[in-house]
Amino acid sequence: METIILNNIDKENDKRLKKAAEILKASGTVVFPTETVYGLGANALDEEAIKKIYIAKGRPSDNPLIVHISNLDQLEDLVEEVTVDAKKVIDKFWPGPITIILKKNSSVLDVVTGGLNTVAVRMPANKIAYKIIELANLPIAAPSANLSGKPSPTVAEHVITDLDGRVEMIVCGGKTVHGLESTVLDLSSNPPLILRPGSVTIEDLKTVLENVELDPGLNKEVKENVKPKSPGMKYTHYSPEAEVVLFEGKSTKVALAIKEMVKEIGRSKKIGIMATEEMVNEYFALANNIITLGKRDNPAEIGAELFKALRDFDDLGVEIILVEGIESTGVGEAVMNRLRKASSIVRRVED
Ligand code: TXA
Ligand code: MG
Repeated sequence: METIILNNIDKENDKRLKKAAEILKASGTVVFPTETVYGLGANALDEEAIKKIYIAKGRPSDNPLIVHISNLDQLEDLVEEVTVDAKKVIDKFWPGPITIILKKNSSVLDVVTGGLNTVAVRMPANKIAYKIIELANLPIAAPSANLSGKPSPTVAEHVITDLDGRVEMIVCGGKTVHGLESTVLDLSSNPPLILRPGSVTIEDLKTVLENVELDPGLNKEVKENVKPKSPGMKYTHYSPEAEVVLFEGKSTKVALAIKEMVKEIGRSKKIGIMATEEMVNEYFALANNIITLGKRDNPAEIGAELFKALRDFDDLGVEIILVEGIESTGVGEAVMNRLRKASSIVRRVED
């Protein structure tokens, strides 16, 4: 398939966005930027169009998709009821980087929900995404625009690497603001549960939903001293090619543990280190491939760079990435969630 690539789109009034909307109306697939990560969109009401998403991504079709909308009538058309809690969240955070899950109505296709009786919906704040959805005048199902198993794309180059020739159009709109996928909030359960942490944090949500909780399943992802990439142990979420070892604990202790590990394996493997600004000086003497993401006390800054850094390490041909973990507070919760998913080993460094 010949992919149309629209470069230098930086305004929502670019006339070429009409073409993107036309492709979506005609059952085609279009990649567009959102404020979180790039999305691979298709008409949520069209089964054939949705199947193209799964084929383009190489994704198992039982994985449910987020439906993107540009007005609240579209939400009414998808769900059984817009609950009181939903209204509170929408008023405060939409358009924006949070997805809500509600009971679906019969109009929602099983290929979108993976057969669940709920549907995930989000109104994106990115002007280009918003405009394309508005022009198409359709609910648009859109997973992150990466090949299945790769980190979500935060710049257009990543999309082109993964999906050129696999989708009808790629709309390039620069670097995404948050760089982490949206917060996924399940409002079909009581209490409301955060299934995926994101830029809208639990602290933010507590201002409108007192009883919101983090899904207790989230922290079971932690893999303590699991053997690297042993057969059947490969995690397919957010994985770069390189193996990721995540160090959690006090920053000074973590730095010591990372240095120790470089000494152990630095001769046999090409090592990369992902560090925070405060600690990076500790590592300069040890490795050539060091990427600094941002400051420990600004996890949003770290989140915005994270997926790009994972891909950059692959481009450097690094075989193993040693990652300095940060505090799981605020957006740090989302950063650590993605890092745990990307890593094959999580090492807790005790005080
Ligand atoms: O920021 C984002 O959310 C991006 C942009 C493009 O909007 N999209 C995205 O989509 O990350 P995707 O498909 O990569 O992730 C969707 C997440 C998955 O974790 C999926 O399991 C969850 O949402 N999800 C979707 N529908 C659900 C449902 N009905 N119940 C529970 N989880 C659901
Ligand atoms: Mg994804």
